[in-house]
Amino acid sequence: MSKPRLYSGMQPSADSLQIGNYIGALMQWRDLQEAYDAFFSVVDLHALTQPNDPAELREKTRRTAAQYIAAGIEPSKSTLYVQSHVPAHAELSWILSTITGFGEAGRMTQFKDKSQRYGADATSVGLFTYPVLMAADILLYQADIVPVGDDQKQHVELTRDLAERFNSRYGTTFTVPMPVIQQDTARIYDLQNPTAKMSKSAESDAGVLWLLDDPAVSAKKVMRAVTDSEGSVRYDREEKPGVSNLLVIYAALTGRQIPSIEDEYAGRGYGDFKKGLAEVVVAEFGPVRERALALLSDPAELDRVLAANAARAEAVATRTLADVYDRVGLLRRA
Ligand code: TYM
Repeated sequence: MSKPRLYSGMQPSADSLQIGNYIGALMQWRDLQEAYDAFFSVVDLHALTQPNDPAELREKTRRTAAQYIAAGIEPSKSTLYVQSHVPAHAELSWILSTITGFGEAGRMTQFKDKSQRYGADATSVGLFTYPVLMAADILLYQADIVPVGDDQKQHVELTRDLAERFNSRYGTTFTVPMPVIQQDTARIYDLQNPTAKMSKSAESDAGVLWLLDDPAVSAKKVMRAVTDSEGSVRYDREEKPGVSNLLVIYAALTGRQIPSIEDEYAGRGYGDFKKGLAEVVVAEFGPVRERALALLSDPAELDRVLAANAARAEAVATRTLADVYDRVGLLRRA
């Protein structure tokens, strides 16, 4: 029996991934890669929807791939590749855009948020069709599951709708994928603004824990995280968003339950708790950072690994695309 398929990806939109990407997605990827035939992409075409310096985008793409490997994704087991290396993504995206409703795409909350933030003139058509390209990523590989954080759920639901629509119009072609979201860690919040999602594109750096930051810098950010005046280490998302977010991070990185951490710090102040968390963060990220930097010191070898993996991805993707072209009635080249 062949293993079920898994697909997921991240945008190379910063020099480093942040702890939300790590806890919300990468840790699940690492755990699931044994049981699934997994495909993990660095979605550089998606990253073009933001302004980029070309040389920096290339560097961010390598850095993102290096962090996948450093965090435990094994390129000999899983297929870890760069989206633009497989042209079928852009090609299937066009076909899917012809069955996507204008209103349907306009209802995507990420598009609504971003277009509001950038203003009409700076909002590109690419940003609007972004979720269609994401659907193409997933459907090309006939993925059964898509492990993501909470903010990508609506995009995976659109992907399911498009797969079902295509299948009913042209005959069963695509696997309809399921989103897999780890409820307790689906949304990690900004350390300075603990009601806002931690994001690679946050306005201020102080609330974002970067995987590749110097460990001393990460420790300092934890010590300065916003809490409250109550002084007790207790999970309460409504009343104590800052402390609750730190508890979630602590529990995720140690594999412990939140009540056991609350017990450990009962009657002790936030200073002790933050010091404990800073140690956990440094112990987890230190080795990941070192492995990533070592991989980045040999870009030619990294590029070779990515090329070999792209060939594997392409073999699967071109098969699906050929089937789609046939079904919609495009004339085969003789
Ligand atoms: P991206 O690059 O914004 O984020 C990558 C992954 O990290 C998760 N994530 C979080 N999880 C918990 N808390 C947070 N604060 C947090 N911030 C980010 C995201 O949910 C995501 O799982 N559109 C996607 C990339 C993409 C994709 C795909 C994903 C393109 N094609 C196909 C899956 C399948 C994105 O922008 O993710």
